[in-house]
Amino acid sequence: MSDIYSKIKKYVYGSPLNTGAVVIDVPASEGEPKPFEYDAAGGTFTYNMKDRDMVFGLGETVRGINKRGWRYTSNNSDDPHHEETKESLYASQNFLIIDDGTKCFGVFVDNPGTVTFDIGYTSASVLTINAQYKDTDFYVIDGDLPLELVTTFRKLVGKSYMPPVWAFGYGQSRWGYKTAEDIREVAKRYKEADIPVDMIYMDIDYMQDFKDFTVNPERFPDFENFVQEMKEQGIHLIPIIDAGVKIEDGYDVYEEGVKNGFFCAKEDGTNLVAAVWPGKVHFPDFLNPKAAEWFGRKYKVLTDAGIDGFWNDMNEPAIFYTEDHLKEVFGGIEEFKGKDIDIWEYFKFNDLVSSLSNNAEDYRRFYHNFNGVKVRHDKVHNLYGFYMTKAAGEAFKEITDNDVLLFSRASYTGMHRYGGVWTGDNFAWWSHLLLNIKMMPSLNMTGFLYSGADIGGFNANTTEDLMMRWVEFGLFTPLFRNHSALGTRDQELYRFKRKKDFKNLIELRHALVPYIIRNFRDAVENDTMYIKPLSFEYRGDERAREVEDQLLVGDSIMIAPVHEQNANGRYVYLPEKMKMLRFRSYNDYDEKILEAGDHYVPVKLNEVLVFIRPGRKLELAKPARCMRDLDMEHLTEISF
Ligand code: GLC
Repeated sequence: MSDIYSKIKKYVYGSPLNTGAVVIDVPASEGEPKPFEYDAAGGTFTYNMKDRDMVFGLGETVRGINKRGWRYTSNNSDDPHHEETKESLYASQNFLIIDDGTKCFGVFVDNPGTVTFDIGYTSASVLTINAQYKDTDFYVIDGDLPLELVTTFRKLVGKSYMPPVWAFGYGQSRWGYKTAEDIREVAKRYKEADIPVDMIYMDIDYMQDFKDFTVNPERFPDFENFVQEMKEQGIHLIPIIDAGVKIEDGYDVYEEGVKNGFFCAKEDGTNLVAAVWPGKVHFPDFLNPKAAEWFGRKYKVLTDAGIDGFWNDMNEPAIFYTEDHLKEVFGGIEEFKGKDIDIWEYFKFNDLVSSLSNNAEDYRRFYHNFNGVKVRHDKVHNLYGFYMTKAAGEAFKEITDNDVLLFSRASYTGMHRYGGVWTGDNFAWWSHLLLNIKMMPSLNMTGFLYSGADIGGFNANTTEDLMMRWVEFGLFTPLFRNHSALGTRDQELYRFKRKKDFKNLIELRHALVPYIIRNFRDAVENDTMYIKPLSFEYRGDERAREVEDQLLVGDSIMIAPVHEQNANGRYVYLPEKMKMLRFRSYNDYDEKILEAGDHYVPVKLNEVLVFIRPGRKLELAKPARCMRDLDMEHLTEISF
């Protein structure tokens, strides 16, 4: 630990708040934050990139593993359009590694407001970091290797969350399961298709009128027994919890929150009224420790009923509209009424209406009581999802004896100590399968080890082949969940023709679980990565440096997922001689030794490639009906 102080330099600008991201108090250094130059007038940190510099990190963002060539903005946003021109998604993980292949350094920008990372966007060879509000703890991390920088950074921000073992199983989710019967039916059909399922997620419809910590008694009569009934089948039910609390007289969470001043209020002291799924809501002030403790304890309603997993959603927070801005928009519409508008006015009109959701001005309308300090929301915006999840994580220690599965949509560095993340509302696009592949190492660097995407795609209609290829990649992601939006084509695995292939794949996941858990735990305990880019291990290999669609998983294997439609194979680059396994099921695979270099490898739709590195081994369990019955002791080993 003492060593860490020699590797990290902290530079303090203005009067930064303690965000809770770091767990080690590093004394402040004076002078220039080298190799950056700081321009106090503009508040900009500048680094002139060398031609060979690659830039890694930022966690959940669009584009490649190498982040160079685009501008990314940390500003947690509920935006389902994860196109490559987007600058912000739901998360802010302000950690970067700059690596020229022989020398590298890291940087962590602890600032909970909007921070822009211009990584060769404005000027191809210049990296600039600029925070909207200048109060910043700026950390420069020194080390010889990217993996060493990762470990130093993670010692700074604390150990990653370790989920319960069963959370490494397979989860089925869909927005639209409305009743206990719907969920029973999903369980039954998985059973009939003989495809294992370990978790079924409960989206907002389980609640009474979308009120947090309620269960609709007509649609879920005798909820406690139902939770038990599912557990007996080896299935954990995982309900969603949304950030906004419905405004409704008689609803205890609302009334207690109002009475105790636990909601976010505006300048005039009245609580902000926003609209999300429940209709009009107040936002709990998770940054106020008392409010956080109160909200966290509310999960007890569900843990007492036997629930041991949650996903926290809409916690950027997402705002469909606020009452205040709605009035402004209606006012604006008045001006258009009866007018013969031209095309430009038509666009203005359109913009006016679409400005209702997630409006920047709305995030400046309300305040937090952050450890006794009144702070305007936008200045700490990126902490909101983190503190919601922290509230839950801390409460679990008090309210239940179980290990609890917990992950969130919005996040900031520090949240990785309390839960994982899913990457939000992607599309059933092949490009989003590839995006999922590229995001995983970045998330791992930043400590968000328990992470994954909506497999098959959330928005839009999936296809059987996309689902199969996505499951084949998802086999290796710690969070392994099939989730889709209301109104899209059904995508439970039993809906497809090739049920047997899906069964084989989910069984293969079960077989891989001991390997996944061993390596995941190792990454937690040693502050390292479970999924890595090739360049982090194969130093000096110029080809490995640029590989963006093959990943190292754990200590022994490399994967090369197929991510293109109609592809019956793919090119794979091997940085060293490896043993290739082509799995059709956990006990049906062929193996072949391949020399280092490029290979075209045929991979049929139902096949999964795994490459074992020299001197390493892959251990496999015998699959079971569910995680509970998985024998993790008696494993077979495939070594090379
Ligand atoms: C949000 C979530 C999504 C969920 C939906 C309904 O869009 O990201 O996962 O299904 O809300 O709750």
